[in-house]
Amino acid sequence: MSKARSVHRCSACEAVSPQWVGRCPGCGAWGSLVEEMGAAGTRVGRAAHVPASGGSGGRVAISAPVRLGELDLGAGAPSPTGIDELDRVLGGGLVPGSVTLVGGEPGIGKSTLLLQALASMAGPGRRSLLVSAEESAQQVGRRAARLGLDHGELWLVAETTMAGVVAALDEVKPRVLVVDSIQTIWNPELDSAPGSVTQVRGCAHALAGLARDRNVAILLVGHVTKDGSLAGPRVLEHLVDTVLSFDGDRHHALRLLRTVKHRFGATGELGLFEMTGDGLRGVPDPSGLFLGDRRPGTPGSVVFPAMEGYRPLLVEIQSLVAITKLPAPRRSVSGLDANRLALLIAVLQNRAGVNLMEADVYLSAVGGVRINEPGADLAVCLALASARLERPLPEDLVVIGEVGLGGELRQVAHTPRRLAEASRLGFKKAVIPASVPSVAGTLRTFRVTTLAEAIATVLGPSGIAHGASPTSRPEIGSP
Ligand code: TYD
Ligand code: MG
Repeated sequence: MSKARSVHRCSACEAVSPQWVGRCPGCGAWGSLVEEMGAAGTRVGRAAHVPASGGSGGRVAISAPVRLGELDLGAGAPSPTGIDELDRVLGGGLVPGSVTLVGGEPGIGKSTLLLQALASMAGPGRRSLLVSAEESAQQVGRRAARLGLDHGELWLVAETTMAGVVAALDEVKPRVLVVDSIQTIWNPELDSAPGSVTQVRGCAHALAGLARDRNVAILLVGHVTKDGSLAGPRVLEHLVDTVLSFDGDRHHALRLLRTVKHRFGATGELGLFEMTGDGLRGVPDPSGLFLGDRRPGTPGSVVFPAMEGYRPLLVEIQSLVAITKLPAPRRSVSGLDANRLALLIAVLQNRAGVNLMEADVYLSAVGGVRINEPGADLAVCLALASARLERPLPEDLVVIGEVGLGGELRQVAHTPRRLAEASRLGFKKAVIPASVPSVAGTLRTFRVTTLAEAIATVLGPSGIAHGASPTSRPEIGSP
């Protein structure tokens, strides 16, 4: 990676000085030093004359072409942060000279995560620097103490100006720098209020230059509101190398870290954390978190193998159906899409004869996870039918499939991987769309083509919920 570094060259004798001085150290001429940008390393000063509009020929930095095969690829190798779930989404760790933006809602745990990462990366000869522009040094210090972090080489500065960041960077010379947050750092030279798009973009641009220049890995914290509208992360995405999004339900312990953009590796990886009394803890095997409190034998409960990035997560979907006399029954959803629920209720009614029109319906994905994929449709429908009919589903069953408006079932991506994860966790049966190509494995699969057939197969009088082989259709009562 070529680094641009400014040097000062004597226009009389071509002697080079790292700083500007009044008198040339080489020939003694006064006022002859001119600043120029050069590539890092021994060959300083490949500069070119570019005709400027005024005809004065200003000097700009240019890079020397090199053969692709001669590049030093080792220089840009990621160094692990030591936080496994963070390294997983980063594809190994932080690349020196890169800029990573960590976006998320206020209070989700960004400061905590990055403080833990900084402490983990600090060690003898390896300094970490935290620029705290939101919290005082004491607040950060107290949090570090509470988390029991070993902070021997973790440096801290409470600073809100760009000049302060540069000064601290030059003094501490860290390997990794965190700026918390980019919205509260400002540059008084920019003619704009702190937190404005101009400031946020200007400061991020300057920090990206510093990262390359000093070969420091820089992490920027960016607050996003629920609709992602706040000045910040959105306007920065093209300026940085990597964008991570940190989210989760604030009332639950689960936190999900995703790559939105990644110049050095794949996006779609997912890191999972649990917010505990002493900071964030990685969750390498998350299914326990979702299924730990499950009570088998309860009508309305079904397990769906969701995909989060490349990771299958087994999530319990629960529903409760209560007959009501109210003209407009309640529909309450958490962790799933409310519009999708309305659609599935209509399909259940019209294509499978399950009447929920005179019933309050409550639906939730357990554990604080959000499921947005249509692959959960069939699981939602079976949970609703099971709750309506008050017949529990088998506890060792998983359900995958998208439901169409005609009540037909469609396969969804990564079905084999989802089934493999279910099998690994001890599930024995799966209801899947008939169109899924045959999958190897120990799971017993029930292939169905329509929603009505799925309900009959699972909940019918001789369905698998009753231990019999599926033959006839269920009698589905009207309310
Ligand atoms: P924080 O990292 O300050 O969030 P952000 O920087 O994204 O705004 O974390 C905020 C919440 O996390 C706070 O409300 C308390 C909770 N928390 C814990 O539950 N345990 C902990 O050990 C810490 C440090 C925070
Ligand atoms: Mg914070």
